Amino acid sequence: MNIAEIHRTRYSVEPEGIYKAPGRVNLIGEHTDYNDGYVLPTPIDRHITVSFQKRGDNKINLHSHDFKQDAEYKLESFKPDPEHHWANYVLGVVQALQKRGYSLGGFNMCLKGDVPIGAGLSSSAALETAVVRSLKDQFDLDLDPVEAAYVGKECENDFVGVQSGIMDQFVSSLGEYGKALFIDCRSNEHSLHRLSSDVKIVIVNSMMDRSLAGSEYNIRHAQCVEAVNTIKETYPEVKALRDVTEEMLLEQWSKLPELIGRRARHVVTENTRVLESTRLLDQGDLNTFGELMYDSHNSLKHDYEISSKHLDLLVDFTMDLDGVLGARLTGAGFGGCTVNLVESDHVDKFSETIRKRYYSHTAKKCEVYVA
Ligand code: GLA
Repeated sequence: MNIAEIHRTRYSVEPEGIYKAPGRVNLIGEHTDYNDGYVLPTPIDRHITVSFQKRGDNKINLHSHDFKQDAEYKLESFKPDPEHHWANYVLGVVQALQKRGYSLGGFNMCLKGDVPIGAGLSSSAALETAVVRSLKDQFDLDLDPVEAAYVGKECENDFVGVQSGIMDQFVSSLGEYGKALFIDCRSNEHSLHRLSSDVKIVIVNSMMDRSLAGSEYNIRHAQCVEAVNTIKETYPEVKALRDVTEEMLLEQWSKLPELIGRRARHVVTENTRVLESTRLLDQGDLNTFGELMYDSHNSLKHDYEISSKHLDLLVDFTMDLDGVLGARLTGAGFGGCTVNLVESDHVDKFSETIRKRYYSHTAKKCEVYVA
């Protein structure tokens, strides 16, 4: 059933609009966004779609096709709903818009998607972005795509309770399929960079639970703040790890607890890798870009410590495969997916070999998607 049919079946009336937004995969620049740094994600060809129809009252009626659940709220009095986790991404967006002074009315909405849920491919940001798009259009809100992304982030930070950065919502809102989106997460400056058709972005889903990701994510965030607080005693101009150079970090190394130093080193070196990768992409030097992806993975594994046995295996399996230029874990970590840069004519062989190796080492089946 398509979303219009789902809407008609559920509410016995035609939807007034249908809106969608994509999930994303991050090519490089992990855990840099909330440090005011740089990222280089790209949207994937998988989306969350919502149908919309205004009501004459103040109710928000929601139906999730994928969870086979309904939920009802009142526009003026809702709070986070632990029973319907998916609904919080709609409610949080409504709250963020209300806080900005926009006035909304009641509505019926259905939700459906093919972004794998909980795999680190930002199904939640896709949902937030689709909901912002629907409310902007239906209630005539004066909201540009960058502000729309910040509404999604606010939903995540203030309503859902994850201290995430802006990357996922930004690329879902402003990304273009087939292009990498460079984002400066401090200034919001951004630029699109075409991906060569000689290579494919291949995502491998380890199918491992990411339940640690939420708590460990907020811990990493706090460790970065701790590093900044020490470094700014010497360099008061440092507001975030974005402002720290490799030389500064070396000089400050003995003042930082070893663990905090390693966390900072990941972010500082990763920012450099993103700038370099963007340049390499424009120059068509995909081999060197791929090497930086492997460097990024090692840094996430040893310094930021957010990899897992399964993600490491998936990256290790690529080392001797023909046509693979780079591989790394992507997203928050602790499970989820790897992103691989694979020459187009090697994609089938790549997928087949990775599936076999993963199964024989872990007795688990991974899923492979071409972005
Ligand atoms: C999650 C967050 C993003 C970003 C990544 C890690 O996807 O939502 O803001 O921090 O993790 O790079």
